[in-house]
Order: sequence, then structure tokens, then C-alpha cells
Amino acid sequence: MNASATTMSDGPVLSIEGLTVRAKDRLLLDGISLDFPPHSLTAVVGPSGCGKTTFVRALNRMVELTPGLRVEGQVHYLGQNIYDPSVNPVLVRRRIGMVFQRPTVFPTSIFENAAFGLRIVHAEDEEVDRAVTEALQQAGLWDEVKDDLDRPALALSGGQQQRLCIARALAVRPRVILLDEPTSALDPAATQRVEATMLGLKERYVLILVTHNVGQAARVSDRIAVLQTGKLIEVGPTEDVLERPREKFTEQFITGRFE
Ligand SMILES: Nc1ncnc2c1ncn2[C@@H]1O[C@H](COP(=O)(O)OP(=O)(O)O)[C@@H](O)[C@H]1O
Ligand SMILES: [Mg+2]
Repeated sequence: MNASATTMSDGPVLSIEGLTVRAKDRLLLDGISLDFPPHSLTAVVGPSGCGKTTFVRALNRMVELTPGLRVEGQVHYLGQNIYDPSVNPVLVRRRIGMVFQRPTVFPTSIFENAAFGLRIVHAEDEEVDRAVTEALQQAGLWDEVKDDLDRPALALSGGQQQRLCIARALAVRPRVILLDEPTSALDPAATQRVEATMLGLKERYVLILVTHNVGQAARVSDRIAVLQTGKLIEVGPTEDVLERPREKFTEQFITGRFE
């Protein structure tokens, strides 16, 4: 194995340098630099409006779907800058998938919801079957739906729908999953199931979880990154940030002064 192959497998999956997002007259993200190692779950926390959603949308080029926003800086995925003009954003979004705040289930069957990204690339039926089964298993939904794959996905509970959205992202074999407050529309029992799914997934993927729930960050993350008005003000192992925050702002946030 040559040196560069070693670097590829041991180095960060995502490496962000000076990531800045501007609206016409406002700075939404201000020069964020951060590496994401393999098999890690980073919680991104901060008060409402601090730029969490903008941050994750900038990590898979979804931010450019919003007119008027400009991105500067670099986001390296396995060593390649995803903002390089030669890179196809659709491929970026397969490797770096996104799960939204509310489940984005389509009015079709459970199976076809999970198969969505594979149908777009005209995958063979056998490959679709295999990938959908594996994705539903990894998303922790298989046992609940395996006998009902042809039923309408909209008949599932909210928590099951959110795990189905996770399965849809997994089915196209990404390396990174971005989750933007994935449990904020769910009840406590459904939240607990999604948290269990995320814990299982961090063995295999890089997970970046936006949450305003400090308890959730404590339960599932290895590392916490704190944003304040578009700036990364503190990042460290979850326990350190929660028990020994370096910044006054972090301490105020985790003690609930902003809730
Ligand atoms: N398209 C846009 N144009 C201008 N400002 C925006 C746009 N999108 C978001 N913002 C502003 O950027 C800030 C960060 O938003 P957002 O990333 O959604 O924060 P969070 O997810 O932490 O609540 C907010 O003040 C929001 O109003
Ligand atoms: Mg948000």
C-alpha cells in the first residue's frame, strides 16, 4: 500500500477549511475549519439561528440550492474539494447524505422510499433488493416492516418514517450522513429509537448531528462542536465540553440558558 492510500484510509473523511457562507449583506458562517475522522458522531449545537442548518447544508452542496448564498473555503471529502468546479453536486449528495428535521417520505411504498436513490441510477433489481434490505436493517426498521414492504410509507408512524429516511440515505452507500435535528418532530419513544439507530451507525459512518438538545448530544455523540453566530467557538470530546466547557457561552448553552 502506498503512502497516499494509507492517508486516505486513516485520515479524516471530511476536512473543512475556512468554510464561509454569505447572504447579500450578512455572514452566516464565518471561517469554520474542522476535520471529521472515520466512525465518529459529532453533535453540532448552538442556539436557534446560529447557523447549524447552513453549516450542514454547506457540507454536501445543498446550500447552493438556496439562491443568494455564496460559499467560500473548502470542504475536502476523502481528499477532494467538493466545491471544485469539476465535481458533480449530485454525486456529492450521494456520498454525503442528508436527513431532515421532518421525515420526507414520498407517497409510495416502504420499499420504493428506501430504493429511491437506487432507481435514479437504474440499479439492477437484485442490487436494489440487497441494498434496501441492508439499509432497512442498519436503520433499525427491518423487523418492523419486513412483511409490509409494499404498504404505503405514509401509514408508518413519524419515528418509523424518520428511520425510513435514514434507510433511504444509507441505500446509496454514503460515507457521511448529515442529520438536521432529526428527532425534533418526534415523541420521546420515537426519539429513543432514532438515537439507538444513530449509535449503531457510528460504527460504520461519519455522522454529523445537528441538535439543540444537549441531552441528546450527551447520549449519542463522541464530540461536540458549538456554534455562535456563524463561528465555531468550541469543539472537543463530548464529556470535556459538557463537564469542563472552555467558553462561557458554551456553559450558558449547556445549562439551558438559551432554551
Ligand atoms: N437564504 C438566506 N438568506 C439570508 N439569511 C439566511 C438565509 N438562510 C438562513 N439565513 C439566516 O442565517 C442564520 C442561520 O440560519 P440557520 O442556519 O437556519 O440557523 P439554525 O439552523 O442554527 O437555526 C439565521 O439568522 C437565518 O435567518
Ligand atoms: Mg436549523
